[in-house]
Amino acid sequence: MSSTGQATGGVDSLLQEHRQFAPPVEAAARAHIKSMAEYERLYRLSLEDPARFWGERAGELHWFKKWTRVLEWNAPDAKWFVGGKTNLSYNCLDRQVQAGLGDQTALIWEGEPVAPGASYEIRRLTYRDLLRETCRFANVLKSLGVKKGDVVTLYMPMVPELAIAMLACARIGAPHSIIFGGFSASAIRDRVEDAGSRIIVTADGGWRRGKVVPLKHTVDEALNLTDKVRTVVVFQRTGQDTPMKSGRDHWWHELMATARDTCPCEEMDSEDLLFILYTSGSTGKPKGIMHTTGGYMVYTYLTSKYVFDLHGYGENGQATGPVDLHWCTADIGWVTGHSYVIYGVLPNRVPTLLYEGAPNFPDQDRFWDMIQRHRVTIFYTAPTAIRAFMRWGDQWPARHDLSSLRILGTVGEPINPEAWIWYRKHIGKDHCPIVDTWWQTETGGHMITPLPGATPCSPGSCTRPFFGIDAAIVSKEGQEMPPNAGGFLVMRKPWPGMLRGIVGDRQRFVQTYWSQIPGCYFTGDGARRDPNGNFWVMGRVDDVINVAGHRLGTAEVESALVSHPRVAEAAVVGIPHDLKGTAIAAFVTLKAGQQPSEALKEELAKHVVKEIGAIARPEQIRFTESLPKTRSGKIMRRLLRELATSGSVKGDTTTLEDFSVLAKLRESDEG
Ligand code: PRX
Repeated sequence: MSSTGQATGGVDSLLQEHRQFAPPVEAAARAHIKSMAEYERLYRLSLEDPARFWGERAGELHWFKKWTRVLEWNAPDAKWFVGGKTNLSYNCLDRQVQAGLGDQTALIWEGEPVAPGASYEIRRLTYRDLLRETCRFANVLKSLGVKKGDVVTLYMPMVPELAIAMLACARIGAPHSIIFGGFSASAIRDRVEDAGSRIIVTADGGWRRGKVVPLKHTVDEALNLTDKVRTVVVFQRTGQDTPMKSGRDHWWHELMATARDTCPCEEMDSEDLLFILYTSGSTGKPKGIMHTTGGYMVYTYLTSKYVFDLHGYGENGQATGPVDLHWCTADIGWVTGHSYVIYGVLPNRVPTLLYEGAPNFPDQDRFWDMIQRHRVTIFYTAPTAIRAFMRWGDQWPARHDLSSLRILGTVGEPINPEAWIWYRKHIGKDHCPIVDTWWQTETGGHMITPLPGATPCSPGSCTRPFFGIDAAIVSKEGQEMPPNAGGFLVMRKPWPGMLRGIVGDRQRFVQTYWSQIPGCYFTGDGARRDPNGNFWVMGRVDDVINVAGHRLGTAEVESALVSHPRVAEAAVVGIPHDLKGTAIAAFVTLKAGQQPSEALKEELAKHVVKEIGAIARPEQIRFTESLPKTRSGKIMRRLLRELATSGSVKGDTTTLEDFSVLAKLRESDEG
């Protein structure tokens, strides 16, 4: 099995798995799931009687009409909570106001200082505020002609208005398609065209490290490339000069000024589309992953409750103990932000913290300072960020009182044991359990993860499957592998948060996820399970690279490179990187008559950034006269990876068509 991701397996993790950290006593005392015995019992029940397990949990939320069947499964198509009618915006907001929590904080937002030395902007929105603003923006969308089923594109900075816009979409049944603010104009064009979206909500800009990210400008560029979009709504965040196109562009604040404060919720069928989120695959352009209303809602609600062990206000509006403050540092433009900044957290009646900027602005203790000032109790971030914190030094967290923290989480890529141990010691002060949550855009929510009051943790392992998740390690033929043997990570049963398809591409949906391993959902990851039943994820086994927790397809980066007029052919591989986990190395052959140069390398790197976004910028670009290919014409990425990582190739080259290419690659490397 080949792996493009950063492998945390091998001797290191074999040693680490014997080092187990039991949940601290205080974590278990008030936890929803208090022991492994309780986990095991519920886990068994959830697999044996999913209708009962999920039916009971779904009953904790509000439904306009109850479902008639919990699950209808015709592989690969699942319908959950069949016939049920609900609304996620209602479960995030209205329900809380009705319980008497109108004046309690639902969302705290902190912005970047807009000028050197300026103080931070902080906004606190109560459930009543958030409901009112959501209703107003829902009315704005309606007044612009948006109806149930129309896809609304959101390209926004991390401001409360992004949460308001997504909750407004959910309220009126208009699926949102959120595009991370780092993506380029071409990426926006591809996504709005693929989703058939005719409206974009954006901002004049967002603040990052003291600079303005000019979002509206990028939208304008995108709209020069497509004529599909009729309406643009612009939230004013930075006040920078922003040209507005008459008839197409509208200011958010002008539309909101006259919008009504109330807006009834659309009664959504459980299987009505809630949102589309684009993610990279191993071939072609990013695919629009579809998530529907009922299953996603129940799944993100329950994973938030158990995995972060959330304690909020009760149904009667009373809290039985301290109320958590949840901080997931992911941008809402990624699935982690969808599920664990907004949709899973608010129905638990726990306030969520939203931060606009970078972790090192104005200083490298920005996160620790925020945790201290807001008294954050649950902190969820990515291994790549933790590695950066380690590099910046222990003195930054040491300056702050982090005693409010009780649970730490990580997501997005395998965490190396050193980073795990550092996180536990310097941020968790050896008393916070760490939940290493394995999941994907496609899965909607956490799939394999510790439960903080129950699961003993080993650094680098995401431990055990969540309730209802039948995860297994299998061979290509679908045979379950013995303990410690590597194989493909699959799911053998449906779960409520699972994707329902890819926009406009049934065949790709079936082919990518349901055809590789007989009868199973294929994750694209390689993993092993140790004799204690804990999972150890190694990374992707397909042509997807995970750069600093962000997913990119090698094909996507290659086609960006090949779209440059001087490039003939390109091959992209992932290479290990201290901070990012994996970085991009590109091998490029130039068209006849073109000369390699350092300046051209820089130009190509910039070209990729322009085509996709800054996250796709190659770490290394190497010029070569041709690429190593098998006799059937397939690029031998394994050799390129080896070369980019170690500078030489030792592996088997017997199927290589032109051996001389290797020598040339080495020459170009040295030159
Ligand atoms: O390879 C796995 C890795 O990230 C992939 C999913 O990427 P994406 O859809 O962008 O979602 C990221 C956030 C949920 C997976 O196929 N991955 C995610 N979490 C972990 C992980 N690898 C190891 N350990 C994790 N905790």
